[in-house]
Amino acid sequence: MALFEARSIHKRFGARVVLENVNLSFEAGQVSGIMGPNGAGKTTCFHVLTGRYAPDRGEILLEGQSIGGLPPQRIARLGVARSFQVMNLFDDSTVLENILLALPDFRARRHKALTAAFADAALIDEAREVLDQVGLTGREWEPSVSLSYGDRRALEIGVALAARPRILFLDEPTSGLGTEATLNLARLIARLRQRYTIVVIEHDMRFLFRIADRIAVIHWGQVIAEGTPAALSTNKWVQRSALGELV
Ligand SMILES: Nc1ncnc2c1ncn2[C@@H]1O[C@H](COP(=O)(O)OP(=O)(O)OP(=O)(O)O)[C@@H](O)[C@H]1O
Ligand SMILES: [Mg+2]
Repeated sequence: MALFEARSIHKRFGARVVLENVNLSFEAGQVSGIMGPNGAGKTTCFHVLTGRYAPDRGEILLEGQSIGGLPPQRIARLGVARSFQVMNLFDDSTVLENILLALPDFRARRHKALTAAFADAALIDEAREVLDQVGLTGREWEPSVSLSYGDRRALEIGVALAARPRILFLDEPTSGLGTEATLNLARLIARLRQRYTIVVIEHDMRFLFRIADRIAVIHWGQVIAEGTPAALSTNKWVQRSALGELV
């Protein structure tokens, strides 16, 4: 059984059909990729899978349990985490504070202020462990706004991982990153895959083909191809978009 499955998902906004009969399946321990041109419905698909939008039709299953239509917080508590296409860090807070604020234990203990959290050694350890996972050890006290774009992306992934998810959805993690930072991100994802199941939306095909075990191509709200990078590289759509005709 796949860890996460979407069956026959339909989503429309008014008369505009954005997702039509989308079937996706993500295996535990794998990195799955989603690619497709601008406006294809990729982000909407993530919004539906992680609860921001309820599907109009179809089923969403986490380990066989139906989660479709549950509120996003419930879905998050069941072990589904995501990052956003647009960064959403607390710029004025430090690296460590950004993680602390995202820890379920911080929220559960209802620490009124971060000062109380700093007296909580177990909580600080937990936050440091997350920072270690995303390669930001030693950067705890830097304001997040002063980080490079690549480090901010890593911190953002750390914020998503603070909830100790089973599955992590990343929406265009390379956007805005240069070659070096993109390479670092690929390395980070290669490390994280040892602990987490990861699903990545990406425009950067070279990046996606490097990190993903399987890739689904979404076009006009439908999955038009799915398979391993090797199998997909012979797909006509993929070849044409690699030439820059469609993406
Ligand atoms: N809340 C909404 N109301 C109406 N239309 C929407 C809404 N959200 C998305 N759409 C439309 O749905 C289509 C798919 O958008 P979506 O953001 O999912 O595409 P995408 O594949 O993520 O594109 P990109 O690669 O540019 O991020 C677009 O035509 C968009 O305008
Ligand atoms: Mg998008």
